[in-house]
Amino acid sequence: MFARFLPRSPHAEIYTQIRSLLTASIESQYVRVNHDEKSMKFPQIWLRDNCCCPECFHEGTQSRIYKFKVGVRAERVSFSLSICHGGVITQNYYQVQALDDKSVQIEWNDRHTSVYNLKWLGERDFSPENRQKYIDEFYRLKHVFWGKEDFKKECKEFEFDEVMGTNEGLRKWMEALAIYGVALINNSPKEKTTARRLADRVGFIRKTHYGEEFSVMSKPDAKNYAYLSAPLPLHTDLPYYEYKPGLNLLHCFTQSESSGGQSLTADAFYVAERLKQKDPKSYEILTKVPVDWNDIGSEGGGEGFHSIYRSPMINFDADGRYNRINLSIPQRDSHFTVKLEEVIPWYEAYWKLIEILKEETTTFKLKEGQLLTFNNLRVLHGRTGYDDNETNVRHIIGVYLDWDIVYARWRVLKSGK
Ligand code: OGA
Ligand code: ZN
Ligand code: ZN
Repeated sequence: MFARFLPRSPHAEIYTQIRSLLTASIESQYVRVNHDEKSMKFPQIWLRDNCCCPECFHEGTQSRIYKFKVGVRAERVSFSLSICHGGVITQNYYQVQALDDKSVQIEWNDRHTSVYNLKWLGERDFSPENRQKYIDEFYRLKHVFWGKEDFKKECKEFEFDEVMGTNEGLRKWMEALAIYGVALINNSPKEKTTARRLADRVGFIRKTHYGEEFSVMSKPDAKNYAYLSAPLPLHTDLPYYEYKPGLNLLHCFTQSESSGGQSLTADAFYVAERLKQKDPKSYEILTKVPVDWNDIGSEGGGEGFHSIYRSPMINFDADGRYNRINLSIPQRDSHFTVKLEEVIPWYEAYWKLIEILKEETTTFKLKEGQLLTFNNLRVLHGRTGYDDNETNVRHIIGVYLDWDIVYARWRVLKSGK
């Protein structure tokens, strides 16, 4: 795509101007690229591994073709001001292209030539700022924590039709979920498929032992604690799965007319952060000591299941950011497979966390037609107990989604592809 180079004449002036701002040079095992005020340094091995030519990169699948070679060195680097299209080029067009398509050309000692678009290189700059920007703005959005006092401000509200009907609405809702971990969707239709439709709008439902859609209502022969009308203390769902569902979409189909059935929420990342400041020792224990989470049950008359997963309460991703909290009183196993001397300190640390959690819990009552959507790896949720009667039976319909699916869709929308 970089077939032709900008001739010096009749645009020698522009060429010289641009040229003076660009330099590329070999520095031992690296290539240094200076552009405007910016200086970038790339390992040669990485450059060669990421050559974009058709021999090394398959355009259709956007994938590297395996061609790894040891001991290849850059012999010559140069800047080119390249033009992507053939045909007649007007002067204006020519200038724009010249600015957009600056590229670095490398000739390697094995007679291979690579051309790297400058914008492409800039996006992959190894500087700490650029890497952080990519991680916080494109990989996973930076979290904003909230306590009880901030909940009203940080829990953004959306219209069901806006999320279902416009890409902008969909993108903004996903961003709110990624950043704050919680969002409300209002005015959804009173249909049993509403939560499913929302999940399908993003991608596809994450199935669990409780099915694709699950109805939370008081059931005479309940096999899950949530299916009682008793208070449901703060928890994350399914901590006993290694691949725990990332998001929870709870559609309020029928709300209780009793004073109960109120929703509880808390930002467990914020609570963990407060614990870290207040009591670092307890925090450390909850990040290290694995807890046995479990669920024994059967659903819909099917075969029984016995799920177990061992994991600490507070977990981090590869960049050291919070990425998963596990907490559920009913689903913490009586098996606690840690050293004897770790047990009592763990309980003490856990109580410390619970004390802060109590201070940071917010309560509100969902209205029919609202969907409470939240990050199940972060936001603790629960409800107060309630009473059904002959004409009023509280009914919440839930589905799960995975963050992989949400982010995959969001990045496409963000890139405007
Ligand atoms: C659940 C749950 C919330 C509610 O079923 O896990 O959190 O409002 N339900 O009933
Ligand atoms: Zn190549
Ligand atoms: Zn739940």
